Amino acid sequence: MQSPLRSALLAAARSPRLEKAASGTRLTRGVVDRFVAGETEEQAVATARDILGSGRYVTIDHLGEDTTDAAQANATVSAYLSLLSALAPLAGESAAGGPRPVEVSLKLSALGQLLGPDGDRIALGNAHKICAAAEEAGVWVTVDAEDHTTTDSTLSIVRELRSDFPSLGTVLQAYLKRTEADCADLAGPSSRTRLCKGAYAEPATVAHQGKAVDDAYVRCLEVLMRGEGYPMVATHDPAMIEAALRLAGEAGRGQDEYELQMLYGVRDTEQLRLTGAGRHLRVYLPYGTQWYGYFMRRLAEKPANLALMLRALTSK
Ligand code: FDA
Repeated sequence: MQSPLRSALLAAARSPRLEKAASGTRLTRGVVDRFVAGETEEQAVATARDILGSGRYVTIDHLGEDTTDAAQANATVSAYLSLLSALAPLAGESAAGGPRPVEVSLKLSALGQLLGPDGDRIALGNAHKICAAAEEAGVWVTVDAEDHTTTDSTLSIVRELRSDFPSLGTVLQAYLKRTEADCADLAGPSSRTRLCKGAYAEPATVAHQGKAVDDAYVRCLEVLMRGEGYPMVATHDPAMIEAALRLAGEAGRGQDEYELQMLYGVRDTEQLRLTGAGRHLRVYLPYGTQWYGYFMRRLAEKPANLALMLRALTSK
């Protein structure tokens, strides 16, 4: 069962009216900045440089989702192409077949996936341009997972893109009942799979609820760790991290054969501790003006963040 507060916050995350209201508040500079690098590419690149300087890897997300017009999707492509040019000097040389320190993350709904019957084709074409530029820049790309109504479309677009860009990564959400089977499909050689718990409000018909999500997460990890791909363990949950390290050891995986991932602004001290202990840890770093949906999902994950927000709203 989802808590009523979580459900309310996730419903609010999809409300254009509340988005408009929130954008006009003082929130942007205060609490939002804890989770978002800033509004500009320059701020994102500067923060990425700091993260890389601390020994962590980075994946950068240009904020935006659920695009409803083609011009906006084109603008997102341009933003990624410009970002990739700026990231190329940071990408550096990575060992052949080894992890690339710099990655970008994409949401297909920001690239036109929801633009009617042609949506899939438009998103595929747009993502292809970004993947080609990323290859040139020495940067990895991973496609984010959105709500369950988009999963089939997203996985089929990823499959097509992988024929040209085999290192393209995919996000799977452990809360979806289908995901163990998707993990098995994506556990082959050169496949990179980011496993997260899942951040959207999903019905019990398609998604595990409550504690069952953690059990499903561990089962999915088992499939990925035993497979031949590159698992990306995206969680802040100490029990999930412990399970990942144990399963990686049992599967005989070396440090370069999987990585841990956390969101920018969440458990920073633990991120640095794990990096100091020799783990590869990647930070998911969002930037841009369309922070509202992303930020509301972070509030839904941890009610204490809501208190932080209320304090910021009421302080001078
Ligand atoms: P859980 O929510 O159980 O949290 C465990 C502990 O971590 C909490 O007790 C708290 O201490 C800390 N914590 C977690 N979230 C916090 C927050 N927001 N603020 C402060 N502390 C927090 N989802 C999705 O649907 N599609 C996607 O593409 C992605 N992509 C993605 C990439 C990466 C790198 C990460 C880390 C996560 C995602 N997610 C995602 C989000 C994911 O599905 C999930 O909602 C969050 O990671 C929270 O789940 P945890 O696994 O951290 O566990």
